[in-house]
Amino acid sequence: MVILVTGANGQLGQALQSISGTYLGIDFVFCPSSALDITSLEHCQLVFSTYRPSFCINAAAYTAVDKAESEPEKAHLINAVGAENLAKVCKENDTILIHISTDFIFDGTLNRPYLETDLPNPTGVYGLTKLQGEQAIQANWEKHYIIRTSWVYSQYGTNFLKTMLRLAAERDQLSVVSDQIGTPTNAIDLAEALIKIVDYYNAELVSASNYGIYNFSNEGYCSWYDFANEIFLQKAISIDLKPIPTLAYPTPAKRPAYSVLDKSKIKHTFNIAIKEWQTSLAECLNQL
Ligand SMILES: NC(=O)c1ccc[n+]([C@@H]2O[C@H](COP(=O)([O-])OP(=O)(O)OC[C@H]3O[C@@H](n4cnc5c(N)ncnc54)[C@H](OP(=O)(O)O)[C@@H]3O)[C@@H](O)[C@H]2O)c1
Repeated sequence: MVILVTGANGQLGQALQSISGTYLGIDFVFCPSSALDITSLEHCQLVFSTYRPSFCINAAAYTAVDKAESEPEKAHLINAVGAENLAKVCKENDTILIHISTDFIFDGTLNRPYLETDLPNPTGVYGLTKLQGEQAIQANWEKHYIIRTSWVYSQYGTNFLKTMLRLAAERDQLSVVSDQIGTPTNAIDLAEALIKIVDYYNAELVSASNYGIYNFSNEGYCSWYDFANEIFLQKAISIDLKPIPTLAYPTPAKRPAYSVLDKSKIKHTFNIAIKEWQTSLAECLNQL
């Protein structure tokens, strides 16, 4: 069985690469953007005709949340048109599409974890284009799993964890926003959950009625300040860390104040046990 992974050099793509060796029955085809540009339908068709994948994991995305505000066309092309292209080519090849979406499709005004059925209302261009990507998939190909995740970090690429460690090496004092609440997600845990979905499907433990949207992050919740504090605690880094309100750290994109995701659906459907975010953070720090 072949799983084709787009955006293979991103955080999730590299996390999938790092665990791929443990799944002996699966042939992974890892396509970085240079090997497969998802904004070109013809390019997608060519690559799919070569590999004929049973599954496609779309780890490709435009993820620069603030930059998207000044590059809306580019964000739309990758996050919405790219997702639509993949849905179309998956339909042509009867390939199951596993697509990754985001907590930033929500406006963050709820006071309980978001369910898959809650109404999206993105506050910025990134979230809007990711929502348009979800909608394009839903309109074009029913054999899909859309996995919404949040606050992804890893030993790969650029992310909050690595930024905090870099800044701590450069400064004695750091201020981090304490009024945005969400849940960090170790990209390795996300990657393993995606392969569990494939395994469950192949073992015929799920049916067609299980296609659709699922939430996945680590367990628990925290603010960005709490996340930074835990990083420094676990690494025994001594730094003067100050909590600040979002208002004191203006960014081009407005972010949801609360975007904790309810994971009941994915846990029950695919029998996935999810680690607490602090436990997974420790595992990632051990890899760095
Ligand atoms: N990072 C987060 O905090 C976060 C939170 C919630 C949801 N998500 C979602 O999780 C998924 C994975 O995120 P990530 O953090 O792994 O992203 P990432 O590290 O930014 O990687 C994205 C990858 O997409 C590739 N890409 C960009 N344009 C492309 C195109 N036209 N065709 C093919 N590939 C293209 C990039 O390749 P180049 O580098 O060559 O351009 C990059 O390797 C995304 O869907 C993202 O929206 C992420």
